[in-house]
This record gives sequence, C-alpha cells and structure tokens, in this order.
Amino acid sequence: MLCYKKVVKFKNTAWKVRGIIRISKTGEQNITEKFVLAYSGGLDTSVLIKYLQEKYSAEVITVTVDVGQQEDIKGAEAKAKKLGVLKHFSIDAKDEFVTDYIFPAVKANALYEGKYPISTSLSRPLIAKKMVEIAEKEGATGLAHGCTGRGNDQVRFDITLGSLAPDKKIIAPVRDWGMTRDEEIAYAKAKGIPVSTAAKKFSIDASVWGRAIECGLLEDANNEPPEEAYEWTVAPEKAPNTPEYVTIQFEAGIPVSVNKEKLKPLELIETMNKIAGKHGVGRIDHIEDRLVGIKSREVYECPAATVILEAHKDLEKMVMTRHEVLFKQYIDAEWVFLAYAGLWVDPLKDDLDAFINKSQENVTGEVRLKLYKGGLRVVGRNSPMSLYDKNLANYNIKTSFNQSYSKGFIELWGLQTRMHNALKRSTKKQKGAKST
Ligand code: ARG
Repeated sequence: MLCYKKVVKFKNTAWKVRGIIRISKTGEQNITEKFVLAYSGGLDTSVLIKYLQEKYSAEVITVTVDVGQQEDIKGAEAKAKKLGVLKHFSIDAKDEFVTDYIFPAVKANALYEGKYPISTSLSRPLIAKKMVEIAEKEGATGLAHGCTGRGNDQVRFDITLGSLAPDKKIIAPVRDWGMTRDEEIAYAKAKGIPVSTAAKKFSIDASVWGRAIECGLLEDANNEPPEEAYEWTVAPEKAPNTPEYVTIQFEAGIPVSVNKEKLKPLELIETMNKIAGKHGVGRIDHIEDRLVGIKSREVYECPAATVILEAHKDLEKMVMTRHEVLFKQYIDAEWVFLAYAGLWVDPLKDDLDAFINKSQENVTGEVRLKLYKGGLRVVGRNSPMSLYDKNLANYNIKTSFNQSYSKGFIELWGLQTRMHNALKRSTKKQKGAKST
C-alpha cells in the first residue's frame, strides 16, 4: 500500500491539528493521509477540502473532470488552489466520455425507466476512473467524493472506486457529517470559503448528454417546472414556427454524421443539443426510483440524447430480425439498469457489451426526423442492411411473397391456442349439463 508519511517532532502538549500535520503528545511518527477529491467548485466539495485538511489531517489533491457540464472549470481550479490544496488537476474527458460511455449507451438504447438517458449516471464511473489514475500517480492514500447518503451517485462512486482501487480508503464525509445547509454555510464562512450570495433555486448536474435539474419547487411533484429551470431547450411554444428536418447517419450503431456532414463524436452530440434544444425537444419530467428506495421527481433536458436514441432504436428495427429486436430489449433493460445502479465495472456489463457490440454490426443507415415545437418524430429511414422490403410488404397480389403458404402457417401457429379454447368450451358445457 502506498502511504504518505511525515515524521513530526514533539512540539505541543495536546493533539492538535496544524495544517496537514497531526502532532502527538509523545511526538510519535504519524501517517498523514493524502486524499484525491472529486471537486466541482461548489459549496459541498469546497467545504470538503477544509474538512479533509482538518479532520483527517490530510493533504488534498482536487480533480475536476470536464464531461461537458459547462461549468467554470478554470474558476474551480482557482478556488481549489486558494483553499490550499496540494495540487489540482483539471481533466478534459469530454471525448472519452462520448466514445466510451455515451456511444455504448446509444447502442444499448439506454433509457432508465423508459425515460431518463442516464446523463448523470454515465459520467460517474469515468470521474471515478480519473480519480484513481491520479491517486496512483500521486501516491494518495484515499479517495473522497461529495455525495450525500440519499442519492445514487454515492453508489456509483463507492463501487467504481472500490473496484478500481481496493487498497485505498474511500470516504464520503457529506454522508456522515450530518451538517445542515445552514451549518455548512456557517462552516464555510468561518473557514474563509467563498459562498455565493445568490441563493440557488435549483441543484444542477450536467454532462454533454444532458442536464438534471433538482430541488426547490420541483420537489413538489405536482408543480410544473418553471421556464427558468431550463437552459438547453427553449419553451416549445417559443420554438420556431416551421419544423426542421434532421438526418442522422449511423455506422455500426454509432452516429457519425448530421445532415450528411461527418462530425467528430463530441461535435456531433453538441450539434444535436443545439438543433434539438432550439425546437424545445428533450425535456423530461418523471418520477424515478432511486437505488436507495426513494422515489424522486426528476426533471431533465437531454436534447441530443432524446433525438439520437429515438433514431437509433428506429434503425435497429429496420435492420435486425424480430428475434434480435425482442431479445435485445431484455439486454438493453439490464444494461441501463447496471449503468444506473453503479455497476459499470461489473463483469455482467462487459458481457452485455459484447452481445450489444455484435448486434450493432448491421446498424448502419440514415434516419430522418422532424422536430417541431417540442415534438419529435421519425419520418424516414433507409439502410443498405435493411430487412424491410417494400415488394414483400405491399398489398399488391403480384409479389414474391407466396400467400398460399400463410394458410398452413396459421394452422400450425394457432394450433395450441385453438386446442385450449376447444377444451375450455367443452368443459364449460359439461359443467352446465351437470348443474341442470
Ligand atoms: N437521478 C439522476 C441520477 O441519479 C440524476 C441526479 C442528478 N443530480 C445529482 N445531484 N447528481 O442519475
């Protein structure tokens, strides 16, 4: 195990926390902790810096991972440094997030409980992975995150960190410290942590795959989210009065171009966020089952995700056999559950990925969608791998489909159903005869 050691000479009479060094009465050697903290620049994680320094006598290394949250990454770095961290790392992980996390989710048609494109859930294992990489490089003894004990993120961080770095201490002090918001603000003020005076109306978490909006008046599940909650989508009633068509090209299950223009993965998602957001597409409001049993009212805006997932699912139905389509629904449901439930690094997820990747070999083609005032509809698709054959599907008698086979097929297809119903009728008759 990697440890950060510091020998401290006897200096004082009592246990005392002085910066990062714990001084004992006897002057014995003490091991100082060195924590890598996932840092957003917000109140919780800023308080955590001081808390770790004081309560754990720890040196703190902060990491801010950019997954497209559109927050002030530079500002977070400056703030961390001001709060006396040993080092700070800002990591731009947007490209990796798109190719290694979002694209697998597209292939898996990932919508938790049929609604949520797991825009927050997907980013957690990536942030955890980056934390571990830094912890190893810097010889840290522990990993810390700012999750509370009520949500899903704690599950995702704890499981991923614990799987990737079993030798390191993993702590979530916000879960344990029991401070109220006011106490936290008071602590922050006492420690010289800048607290923004503008009371935040909502709690936001975003990645390039979507924006989650929580708290405030949204906690009443009966309140319609106010316009000010949304930033990436316009109100459908204020969207353009003319519909817009957009064509997405997929290759082996992955979106590669928009309106015939080839785009890099990240660019493609950002472009779709803009196009769909302009038409008010991608707003989601649903009741979600958290892992810890709580039902929560969740509001999201996921413009790109909503459009791309809809298009992908449509294309799959054109190129896959019905057996593949139906069976894959089970696989997809399990995949999204694992990703939501913090089990990104479970081997079952890899097993499912192997199946899903194989299933995508023919998912190549174009899907055309119509966006209009918050609405989204697939209006066309074509693929070189299409199993759709208009000569078979049409109602013209002269096709290669031999209708005379249908009679025999139906005879066998319905055999057991007819047998069951015949039996039911005859037992009913017998009962009727007995009772008269
Ligand atoms: N309910 C969503 C999830 O667990 C989004 C949560 C977003 N909020 C947050 N503070 N992380 O994935």
